[in-house]
Amino acid sequence: MADWVDACAAGDIDEEDVIRWDHAGRTFAIYRSPDDEYFATDGLCTHERIHLAEGLVMDDIIECPKHNGRFNYKTGLAKGAPVCINLQTYAVRVEAGRVLVQVG
Ligand code: FES
Repeated sequence: MADWVDACAAGDIDEEDVIRWDHAGRTFAIYRSPDDEYFATDGLCTHERIHLAEGLVMDDIIECPKHNGRFNYKTGLAKGAPVCINLQTYAVRVEAGRVLVQVG
């Protein structure tokens, strides 16, 4: 059973933005959507392992800063070349102003 881990304060992430979160030797990206929901994925692009938190969030898309590959950060779906491998996603919930991620 995967653990829920306290990652950050809800207010640490601006709307339509992303932050990097490192935990137990792994790196994740945590997103806040334009409609104020929170999501988490692996932090590294599946193309060349670049940190996605340095990319651009637009609606439900994260654009990788290196080659502009795009993923849907809600589903992890790769949206076309050069990315063809989906991102792993993780369940997120917000409790008492804290963002909790279910790390698997
Ligand atoms: S490293 Fe992300 S698209 Fe190439």
